[in-house]
Amino acid sequence: MGTRVTAPAVRACKVARGSTPLVMVTAYDAPTARMVDDAGADLILVGDSVAMVVLGHDDTLSVTVDEMAHHTAAVSRTSPRAMVVTDLPWLSYHLSTEDTVRNAARLIRAGAAAVKLEGGRRRVPMVEALVDAEMPVMGHLGLTPQSVHALGGFKVQGRRPEAADALVEDALALVDAGVFALVLEAVPGAVARRVTEAVPVPTIGIGAGPACDGQVLVLHDLLGLEDRVLPRFVRRYASLRADGTAAVGAFAADVRSGAFPGPEETYEPEPGFGVEASGLPA
Ligand code: KIV
Repeated sequence: MGTRVTAPAVRACKVARGSTPLVMVTAYDAPTARMVDDAGADLILVGDSVAMVVLGHDDTLSVTVDEMAHHTAAVSRTSPRAMVVTDLPWLSYHLSTEDTVRNAARLIRAGAAAVKLEGGRRRVPMVEALVDAEMPVMGHLGLTPQSVHALGGFKVQGRRPEAADALVEDALALVDAGVFALVLEAVPGAVARRVTEAVPVPTIGIGAGPACDGQVLVLHDLLGLEDRVLPRFVRRYASLRADGTAAVGAFAADVRSGAFPGPEETYEPEPGFGVEASGLPA
């Protein structure tokens, strides 16, 4: 792909047509966006998972359009090569197409290049309205965390034949409505393969097996910054919470023992200054 990743470039990345799998990782602020972009991800998802892994909520339902715009702006200020996709939060696209377009426009104006929304056939009018207003849309099927209460928890979806059929129908309806890519979350690998083979746009899996056209993980899970829960589909590539706790503990021990700050962390006065100036910024 060229310098800045775009929605048409992502849409063209169908692994079935011979492309390398897409890599999407979440980021919610400037340092995490730089980390994900420097690592070469194709897409940065400003996910509503920010509610859980950054803002301390138990689910994604509390985060608002204002908060998503705030995090999107921080990510977008880093001018990443990766395409920035932002989640439309719960209830920002459920009331009317006008409301949906207005809310999505706030995220685009904050710096997103596309928005993501959850749900299948019921979302078709919203997807059509967004595409009509020139905003690229990514779909999200399977375990849709904004439906946590309706689903009765964070549970694997599409396990029964009729549920798998419904998932394929939903995917086809979203594609007809104009989505450029589809996230498939927590569905059996065989079902994700069926959807992937049925649609002409890339599928990006999270807990959906290896047949998808790409994979996404939540950054804080991948880095081990969030280590309270470990879903089966997460692979940890670092232990940053443990490393961070150890580092802060070492700092605290050095402060308490007098080992920090040392001479190398302490400013010197200009030659000729009295000893009372020692310690002031030079
Ligand atoms: O909000 C998020 O991080 C997501 C991913 C789980 C795909 O939607």
